[in-house]
Amino acid sequence: MDTTERTVAPVPNWDEVEEFVHLFHAEQPDQPVPLSMRLSQIRERIERTGTYQHTPAELEFGARVAWRNSSRCIGRLYWRSLRVLDRRAATSSQQIHACLCEHLRLATNGGRVRPVISVFAPATPHRPAPVLWNGQLVRYAGYRRLDGAVIGDAAHIGLTDVVRHLGWQAPGGWFDVLPWVIQMPGEKPQLHDIPRELVHEVPLAHPDHPGIGELGLRWHSVPVISNMRLSIGGIDYPLAPFNGWYMGTEIGARNLVDPDRYNLLPLVAQILGLDTSTEETLWRDRALVELNVAVLHSFRAAGVKITDHHTESRRFLTHLEREESEGRIVPTDWSWIVPPVSGGLTPVFHRYYDYAELRPNFYLDDAARARAAGQCPIH
Ligand code: ARG
Repeated sequence: MDTTERTVAPVPNWDEVEEFVHLFHAEQPDQPVPLSMRLSQIRERIERTGTYQHTPAELEFGARVAWRNSSRCIGRLYWRSLRVLDRRAATSSQQIHACLCEHLRLATNGGRVRPVISVFAPATPHRPAPVLWNGQLVRYAGYRRLDGAVIGDAAHIGLTDVVRHLGWQAPGGWFDVLPWVIQMPGEKPQLHDIPRELVHEVPLAHPDHPGIGELGLRWHSVPVISNMRLSIGGIDYPLAPFNGWYMGTEIGARNLVDPDRYNLLPLVAQILGLDTSTEETLWRDRALVELNVAVLHSFRAAGVKITDHHTESRRFLTHLEREESEGRIVPTDWSWIVPPVSGGLTPVFHRYYDYAELRPNFYLDDAARARAAGQCPIH
């Protein structure tokens, strides 16, 4: 796969430009430049240069609405609070590295995690955009041993191979934070270390089962998605890392549990002394619940903001009501919103939702997915 695919942008689609500028002026009236004047200004810029620049206010609004429109996100109640860092002027990989470090610091906020997005230079018809290969700012390496067993996060075996190729000295542990792979337009991908003190992590322990703490499990405090393209008014921002705070089940029911991730249920069941001889003992379910107790307990004990799926489901219904009272629909993907444990215990399970693909939004491109999976050649 060509690693630069989709990083050069076509001329902005005029329908998307108009739709966005209308939305911005409808929801945020009293702009210094009136709607019709702004539209003709943009049209003139596109005719002259093939692209246009968002004002800081348009960028902030566009990023927030992209979150609001993300049909797979249960945490959208707080979309208005997204802190938008305008990083369009960062032109070297060193500057981008410094901005990514600052993102981690501001988002982590000593454990009081805040939603933040850093928006870097867009792709234009003349110049492709910088990209980060990593799917998130903090991810753990995965290693396949000769006997086929996996150490670490099996989802990142491919990216781990890539960074080793680029010169990373792999420690070979269960929770090794991968370095960043930054690729500037027209250049080869480059390795960048993450300052250790910026990676906040929580050691996992269970309040009643010390054996779980003895496993030495941990997880990083902030999920910062870094390979989705932000699309606003016909302009593409391929590098626009964003984060919220964790919901416990993401870690306790997926990352540590999926067979193609850490696959830990058999081990947890053994520590809990469960009878695993038949499915009917529901050992998987019992181990799953205790692992989720451990995640929520440990984050709380470490003073790191996290939410549980019951609370977050109720908040999502509040979000639905609020949006509907403002006359907006809430595009929602049931299969992503219903939590992976105890789905039927949460109110989000028991209803249908609107389906729609609204813009602005975030998109995961095939090329970005392939880069994060280490399935791209490094030329
Ligand atoms: N599920 C992903 C993970 O476990 C993170 C996705 C975004 N989650 C969030 N709470 N904002 O790393």
